Amino acid sequence: MTYETILVEQRDAVTLITLNRPQALNALNSQVLADLSAAFAAYDADPTQRCAVLTGSGEKAFAAGADIKEMVEKEAADFFLEDFFSGWQTGVVATRKPWIAAVQGFALGGGCELAMMADFIIAGDTAKFGQPEIKLGVAPGMGGSQRLTRAVGKAKAMEMCLTGRMMDAAEAERSGLVSRIVPAADLLEEALKTAATIAAMPPMASMINKEMVNIAFETGLAQGLLTERRLFQILTATQDKKEGMTAFVEKRPGVWKGR
Ligand code: HXC
Repeated sequence: MTYETILVEQRDAVTLITLNRPQALNALNSQVLADLSAAFAAYDADPTQRCAVLTGSGEKAFAAGADIKEMVEKEAADFFLEDFFSGWQTGVVATRKPWIAAVQGFALGGGCELAMMADFIIAGDTAKFGQPEIKLGVAPGMGGSQRLTRAVGKAKAMEMCLTGRMMDAAEAERSGLVSRIVPAADLLEEALKTAATIAAMPPMASMINKEMVNIAFETGLAQGLLTERRLFQILTATQDKKEGMTAFVEKRPGVWKGR
């Protein structure tokens, strides 16, 4: 399958998706959303694929935001009637299998929000994160005010949204926005290596581990703990649980059935 605005390739069990509008610093327009939605759906549906990496083409940007040129003439009624930005939830966030954002250069506005939709972010040392929408007379619309606040806390999220200032990679790591920083030149290789590690895990367990951590983001502690216990109990019914524990006892690697 070929796409207009992204590149997709499979490297063994890892799907690599690259935003490919470098001339617009990978700005996110409706076609990018349609392409990403199709690519993530195909990834989710393909049993040979077990982890994905999303990155940006070019060294300058992961994505410099929602496409301002697409939004400039739209009126409030258009945004409302199209339920603009809602597709990111159904097309990208709803992905059930794990995926990593590999960010170098600018991740601004919708670009920062897209990176935060990933299960985690690995940053190149050139990464810069920001929610500069206020400078355009608007505010985040793809989850930034919520996910950034949950990730880095109120003080930093509020300062970034109110001033539009960018956070560099070191600050992003200190603040818990990214899992780690690597030299930009090694970013893709490191992200793919991490994805390969995840891809080697029992697939149902990786999907359920993802769901559990996301629940911590979305519910209170009592509900989260109950859901964790129930999901754990579901995993104990899989063949891969039997295999994983037996393999440990027999001192050999597990061989996964994926169920
Ligand atoms: C459309 C964009 C773009 C964007 C960059 N470009 N960002 N096009 N939408 N978000 C385009 C530029 O117009 C230019 O194309 C080309 O990419 C290179 O950008 P330059 O500005 O020339 O590069 P540079 O001077 O290096 O500056 C880089 C930058 C700047 C600091 C990242 O491009 C910038 O500030 N971009 C906008 C960042 C932003 O505000 N993001 C939030 C968007 S709003 P041409 O062809 O013109 O030369 C959002 C959610 C809004 O994400 C929700 C509200 C409803």
